Amino acid sequence: MNVLHVDSSILGERSVSRTVSAAVVSRLREVYPNLWVTYRDVVANPLPHLTASLAGTLGKPVDQAPAAIAPEAAALRRVLDEVLAADIIVVGTPMYNFGIPSQLKAWLDALAVAGVTFRYSSAGVEGLLGAKRLVIVSSQGGFYHAGTPAAGLEHQESYVRGFFAFLGLTNTQVVRADGTKVSAAADAHGLPVALRRAAELQI
Ligand SMILES: Cc1cc2nc3c(=O)[nH]c(=O)nc-3n(C[C@H](O)[C@H](O)[C@H](O)COP(=O)(O)O)c2cc1C
Repeated sequence: MNVLHVDSSILGERSVSRTVSAAVVSRLREVYPNLWVTYRDVVANPLPHLTASLAGTLGKPVDQAPAAIAPEAAALRRVLDEVLAADIIVVGTPMYNFGIPSQLKAWLDALAVAGVTFRYSSAGVEGLLGAKRLVIVSSQGGFYHAGTPAAGLEHQESYVRGFFAFLGLTNTQVVRADGTKVSAAADAHGLPVALRRAAELQI
């Protein structure tokens, strides 16, 4: 069982999403004794942002990339290969300014590759990652679930879920620590709830 574990919080050891994503991977280790984990920290090792020439290399053999951007092309190919090799993808994402960290966006930008992770057919768009499973570990300072006043500002969790659904990956679970900044009481609440959910995850 191959697991790809991705973290994107800028807050290092104090990070809620990093703490919870590590708990999810611990849970997976319990469930699957033969687990191979690949870890990718998109903050410690930031990926290049797309440019027109870099976007032109996506999905093509790296040795065909222009020499001037060969290292960047190789870095983007590496993260795509990590996703293709994974059976389960665990993505830790905090909400920053109602969306995902820009470092995580750079990672996602390497994954939407026509002909590799999705394809256009006569029936429309077809995602090609269908057999994989996804766990989104989401941390949010406020509350954004359906029915809350700020629900319309939630462009983080639903974005990651929708992005992977576009790639065919619909077997998705969310472990959410929300309200982490609302008050001292809520701060004590969101993380323990998420850790309990991580410990009981059925996958
Ligand atoms: C730069 C930055 C922007 C943030 N923007 C939001 C936001 O738009 N909405 C929100 O509810 N919380 C926001 N927060 C709070 C975080 O979502 C919250 O603290 C979360 O638990 C952080 O997760 P982490 O510790 O894994 O980074 C922001 C925090 C930071 C550092």
